[in-house]
Amino acid sequence: MLYIAALAIHVLSIVIWIGGVAFVTLVTFPMILRVEKSLDQVLMFQGVEHRFAKIAKAMVILAGLSGFYLIYEKGLSFGVWVMIFVWTFYASLLFGLEKLIFKRLFSAPSGKQLDTKKVFNILQGFHWFVLALSFMAIAAGIYEGHY
Ligand code: HEM
Repeated sequence: MLYIAALAIHVLSIVIWIGGVAFVTLVTFPMILRVEKSLDQVLMFQGVEHRFAKIAKAMVILAGLSGFYLIYEKGLSFGVWVMIFVWTFYASLLFGLEKLIFKRLFSAPSGKQLDTKKVFNILQGFHWFVLALSFMAIAAGIYEGHY
């Protein structure tokens, strides 16, 4: 019974978290890239980012806790290591690395104006990469649970 509850929490947290990443990659970034003024672009990005960061953090914690309980029930396997790898990458981004990356990307070289189109293109590319990693972890989870 506890196993089913943990699995439900695990999958639900992943649906919300990776669904959010997919939305940002497929909907928000293309919208931001169509906006003309760079100040509007940054404000739009910050608005979405600020709201989603809190949700993503909570979901990453839930997915991790339920994941550890699932290991206790089912044991470690290759697919689980793939999930742990992707999860560690995400957790380090959300709890520290992201701030450093944003600081670097959004600081214009001295005397020059910041090219926000370029910055958001880089960020969108990065989100595609993160989304691809997430799909890999989902595939690993489904394989482990059902083969
Ligand atoms: C990016 C992060 C993660 C994703 C996308 C992910 C995804 C999934 C999915 C889709 C399942 C299969 C559910 C099913 O169809 O029955 C699953 C199961 C599982 N996950 Fe994760 N997970 C992630 C992180 C973690 C972490 C961090 C751990 C461990 C600390 C973990 C441990 C497990 C375990 C043990 C199972 C059960 C496998 C089995 O039934 O044999 N996962 N996960």
